[in-house]
Amino acid sequence: VSANDEKRLAAEAAAGLVEAGMAVGLGTGTTVGHFLPALAARGLPIRCVATSPHTEAAAREVGLEVEPFDALDRLDLAIDGADQVTRDGWLVKGGGGAHTREKIVAAAAGRFVVIVSSEKVVGRLTPPVPLELHAFGLQATLRALGGTRLRDVPPTPDGGVVADYAGAVGDPAALAARLDAEPGVVSHGLFPPALVSFVLVGRGDRVDRVDVA
Ligand code: 5RP
Repeated sequence: VSANDEKRLAAEAAAGLVEAGMAVGLGTGTTVGHFLPALAARGLPIRCVATSPHTEAAAREVGLEVEPFDALDRLDLAIDGADQVTRDGWLVKGGGGAHTREKIVAAAAGRFVVIVSSEKVVGRLTPPVPLELHAFGLQATLRALGGTRLRDVPPTPDGGVVADYAGAVGDPAALAARLDAEPGVVSHGLFPPALVSFVLVGRGDRVDRVDVA
């Protein structure tokens, strides 16, 4: 079974969590790419917001209605992938550079469910940690952070610069606090366990549920 098959299995299981009337946050990435058609196939009356222009377009393509995330003040459920997941529920996200909107959507959701293939589950988090940086003062922010390289991608929809922190992760809570304290950092890809409800891990031909918060 390939990682792609495991992603699809986890995504299909997540589609089963959605109920009529829910407001649902749609993550970004190839795993979410499996989730969107599985959700659309259920034909439920739901409201959706997307974490990236790419997801918004892909969701519309399969027939999901997506609205801007400015009128809804909370979501029932958000579903998203991750680059790394520890057993205690720390995530590294932002492989697609969408982590700022992903974190806002996750935090607004009553339940945030992560969908991954089994190779994403790690004993400890390793670099790089994706960052979104303010363009203003960029060189000063890079100097203060150290060990950070810019990613050769367009600015985010919010005008930020995507970069990767390549230093050691160590204690993720300590690194998250350090990154949060840097004024030029818009957001970082470390998502704490408190944000995560549970993780659906595609493993071979089954899906394991790892409860977190
Ligand atoms: C995008 C993300 C993705 O969820 C993460 O990169 C996983 O991607 P994929 O589902 O393609 O493996 O955080 O910013």
